[in-house]
Formats: sequence, C-alpha cells, structure tokens
Amino acid sequence: MSTPPSDDRHRVALRCETGARWLPNALAHLDAVLVDHAHCEKKAAANALSLLQAYPEVPGLPAHMARLAREESGHLARVLQLLERRGLVLGRDPGDPYAQALQALVRTPAVQRQLDRFLVAAIIEARSCERLALLAGALPDAELRRFYGELARSEDGHQQLFLRLAARVHGEATWPRLEQLLEAEAELIRRLPVRAAIH
Ligand SMILES: [Fe+2]
Ligand SMILES: [Fe+2]
Repeated sequence: MSTPPSDDRHRVALRCETGARWLPNALAHLDAVLVDHAHCEKKAAANALSLLQAYPEVPGLPAHMARLAREESGHLARVLQLLERRGLVLGRDPGDPYAQALQALVRTPAVQRQLDRFLVAAIIEARSCERLALLAGALPDAELRRFYGELARSEDGHQQLFLRLAARVHGEATWPRLEQLLEAEAELIRRLPVRAAIH
C-alpha cells in the first residue's frame, strides 16, 4: 500500500462547479428538494451498509461504514422531521439520474469494482457537500442555513473517508481512476437537466 503525498489528495477536487441555474431553482422548489434530500440520506445510509456487507475483510471498513450508516440515518431522521413540520410526505423514490449514471460506471471485476464503489461514493459525497453548502449560504431561514451548513461539513468528512479508504486499499491505482470518474462526473453535470433535487 502506498502513502499518498499530501492530504489534499484525500479531498475530491470536482472538475466543475454547479451551474448558476441550480440554486435559484432549488430555492424556488424547496419542498421538492427537501423530499429528494431525504431520499439521498436514505441511500447514503443504505450504501454504507451495503459496502459493509460486500467488504467485511477490509481492515477498518466495517467500523467506518457502521458509523457512517448511523450518521447518514441521523441526517435522514432530521430531514424527515423537517418534512413533517412542513406537512410533506416522503413518497416513493423516483430515482436519481445523476447517481445512477455514476453507478453505471462501476466496473465488474472484483478489484476494480471495489475501487469504483469507493470513488463513486466519494464523488457523490463531494457534489452533495458542494450543493448543501450552496443551500446553506442562500436559504431564507437561519435555522435551515445552520442545518445545511452542518450537513455540508459532515458530507465533506464522508468524501475524505471514502477517498482515504480507496487510497489505502488500492494505492496508486486510485488516482488515474479518480481522474477518469471526475471527468465523467463533470460531463454529467453539464449534460443532465437542472432538477429541483440535490443532484
Ligand atoms: Fe448525509
Ligand atoms: Fe454523506
């Protein structure tokens, strides 16, 4: 296992910023964004448990994923509380074309599959962090701004966790693959329509 040269390598550097149309649209359709956000937290918790199920042999992974699942479930519970206060119902998950397109890039052979699952999770966390921070800077309500600021910091920690995990297990193979996936992610951000959703 190789040691990456600097801590900066343990932070996902997204290739493009969210376009200017996303935030005004999200603020104009905040209820829809909150419902989508609850689904995102649910999927993040489920993904942590799925990784624990798939890779129990990776040192440290079960404990990290158990803590992550707990944290994401905590986020989910708090967003559900927000929905309830606003009289909103969660409803069925219509799916997230952004996350689905990234998941589709996960390769099949076991070793590559593991690396890709870690990296896709890191990238989704990084993009979520960026967008939650945008909401934190613009929401009309001070309590909501604080809440989204706190969640953005938490998702920032998660992207670092996944990237560290990838680098620890996969060493130098991590960085060229991360570059490829970041390129693909930027292309997706440019190509997908702007939705009243986190992604
Ligand atoms: Fe979360
Ligand atoms: Fe997260």
